[in-house]
This record gives sequence, C-alpha cells and structure tokens, in this order.
Amino acid sequence: MSMLWIDICLNSVMDDHFQLHILDNLATAILLVDESLIIQYINPATETLLGLSSRRLLGTALDGNLRCTSENLRERISQSLLTGQPYVEHEIDILTPGKKKITVNCTLTPLQEWGDSASLLLEVVELDRHLRISREDQIIRQNLASRAVIRGLAHEIKNPLGGLRGAAQLLQGELENDELKEYTRIIIGEADRLRSLVDRMLGPNGLPSKKDIDIHEVIEHVRHLVVAEALPGVTIKRDYDPSIPLVYADRNLLIQAILNLVRNALHAVDESGTITLRTRIERQFSIGQTRHRLSAKLEIIDDGPGIPSHLREKLFYPMITGRDGGTGLGLSIAQTLVNLHEGIIEFTSMPGHTNFSVFIPIKRSGSPSRIRASI
Ligand SMILES: Nc1ncnc2c1ncn2[C@@H]1O[C@H](COP(=O)(O)OP(=O)(O)OP(=O)(O)O)[C@@H](O)[C@H]1O
Ligand SMILES: [Mg+2]
Repeated sequence: MSMLWIDICLNSVMDDHFQLHILDNLATAILLVDESLIIQYINPATETLLGLSSRRLLGTALDGNLRCTSENLRERISQSLLTGQPYVEHEIDILTPGKKKITVNCTLTPLQEWGDSASLLLEVVELDRHLRISREDQIIRQNLASRAVIRGLAHEIKNPLGGLRGAAQLLQGELENDELKEYTRIIIGEADRLRSLVDRMLGPNGLPSKKDIDIHEVIEHVRHLVVAEALPGVTIKRDYDPSIPLVYADRNLLIQAILNLVRNALHAVDESGTITLRTRIERQFSIGQTRHRLSAKLEIIDDGPGIPSHLREKLFYPMITGRDGGTGLGLSIAQTLVNLHEGIIEFTSMPGHTNFSVFIPIKRSGSPSRIRASI
C-alpha cells in the first residue's frame, strides 16, 4: 500500500486521473500530513471515516480531527517524522470530529522523498468495520435460514388449511341451523386469517421488478402515509441529500420495507416524539463480503424509549415482538426485502435515540448520467 502511494507520488505527472481513481476507490483511509501535522491530502475513505468532507479537513490540524484517546499514536507520529522510521500501531481508539469512538490499526510511513519537507502518510483501517461485516454476514445468514424454515412450514400449513376451509364451506352449505352455521363461519374466518399470516410470513412471491427510481419519491410516499396515522404530538422531520442518484429497485417492495420501519418508529414514540428521515450517500460501504462504491443510506431515527435489550440479538427473526398486538414480522420482512436489493438494515438503539439504517447499493448501470454528476 505505502509503496503504491510512493509510486503515485513520484510519478505524479504521469496520469493524474488514473492515480486519483485508485485512491478514490481504496477502502483504507489515507491521510498525508506535513511536518507541522497539517492535513495535505485525504481520500474519500477518510471522509467516510471522519464524517467530514475534504473541504473541511484539508489545511486543518490532524490532532483536531483524529483525536487519540491514548498518547501512543501522537508520540509515534513525532518519532516517525523525526527518525524517518515507519510504525504500525494496533488497536488504538480514536475520536472522530463527530465524537464517535472507533478502534483502528494505523500505519505511519514517513515520506521524505515527497516534496522538500518531511511528510507523513497515515493508513487507517477501522477494526469495527471488520466486526460489522461479520455481524452483517450473520444477519444475512440468519435471514436466509429463517426464510427456509418459513417456506417449509408454510407448505405444510397451507395444504391442510385449504382442505379444512373447503370442508367447512361444504358443511356450511349442508347446515340449516343458523347457530351451527356460526361455527363453520368461525372455522372459515380463522383459516383465512391463518392463510394471510402465512402469506405475510412468506413475503413477496416472484422476482422483484426493478427500475431506476428516486429514493426520495419512495420515502415521501411513505411519509405521507404515516403522517395520516401519526398522533398530533408526533413530528416527522426530513433531512435529505438531494444529490443521491437513482437506485435500481422495486418501488413497491421498498415502500413496504420502509413503511414497516417508520411504523415501528411511530409505535415507539407513541403520543409524542420526533421521527427523522435522513438520507445520505455512503461511499465504499461493505455489505457482507461485498464492497459497494456508492450506496444510498436512509436512516429512520426516533426519540422513543429504545429497543428492549432482550430483543436486540434476535430482532430480525420472524415472530419476535415486544408490542401488544404486534405479529413480529415487520422487521424480518423489511430485512428480506432490502436483502433482495443486495442491501441491509442495521440498527443502533439507546433510550431516546433509535436509528434504523437502510443501505441500498447504487449500481453504476442504474443511471449513469446522474451518478456521474454526483461524484
Ligand atoms: N424504533 C423502535 N423503537 C423501539 N422498539 C422497536 C423499534 N422498532 C422495533 N422495535 C421492537 O422490535 C419489535 C419487532 O418489530 P417488528 O416490526 O418486527 O414487529 P412488530 O412491530 O411487533 O409487529 P408487526 O409485524 O406488526 O410489524 C417490536 O415489537 C418492538 O418491540
Ligand atoms: Mg412492526
């Protein structure tokens, strides 16, 4: 990696476009600082890691942006600049400008060759990201396993249920006594209820019908639906990034997934509270084992009481509910629908702040002109 950078620096007149392309697509955060520790260069992965744009970061002091919770890294940086010796620091905690604590491995490479004065190259690899990838893998595997169980179970339930309903209907036709007919009506009604529950558990049948769609149009559609359901004390705020390109998705399936999440937030805040719908572009984001250059991120944030701790581990399993009258299918269905778009739903929750994030990869073939315009 460092060798690659040195090559790029030494050959800076060769093909600027190609060099930038390489750096822009690295998953590792790269920073270049001068001897006064002023940031001279960052790649997009650093913007994602620190949550600030290069416009805000370039020319500012490293210490103000990548604050170390231990003295080690600071000492190493000074030593490295002084001695020209590279260092690797493992598992150090840093605080981002947004006060997020992350654990990283950091490689320091002094670059005397570059320019007149000493500079230092920092490669920062987020360890939490690796943990997140294995957690996502687990969510996706869990989801696939429970879908297989549901499909098997649905088959076993639906066939005899059809027979039961048919027999009750025949019996109803034979009966003359209205009181006895009431019993057959109950059997038919309950069989229908069970069938629609099983259908809901099975989720959509057939392949999604995907098109290039505007994610904000989908979110606004959901917002209009839930505004009508919300109690007067509930505020629904919008914080959209209008530069998000079109996503290649099934509009109806996305509506269903987002509606389930926003309805949950609505239940959580109950009579009064705030729900925020926020969209952002996420660059170089990995979903499971796949890294996507651009993804659309929709966050549904509420200030309700948070997800009960005993539910968190199994939240995306079907039939897990903490709500009277809940079937516990909403999140499992939403996760399946988002997985059908190669995306994922993640959440963080504490009392007063629950955040469900939906990530949908944006395919380059989806809408070339708008994607190019947004880069
Ligand atoms: N934003 C949230 N804040 C607090 N708890 C939540 C939130 N979202 C989900 N939950 C918890 O997760 C549980 C599971 O949600 P899920 O949507 O799967 O099922 P449900 O809402 O109970 O029923 P339904 O199938 O009707 O959606 C909820 O019952 C609730 O306890
Ligand atoms: Mg729900």
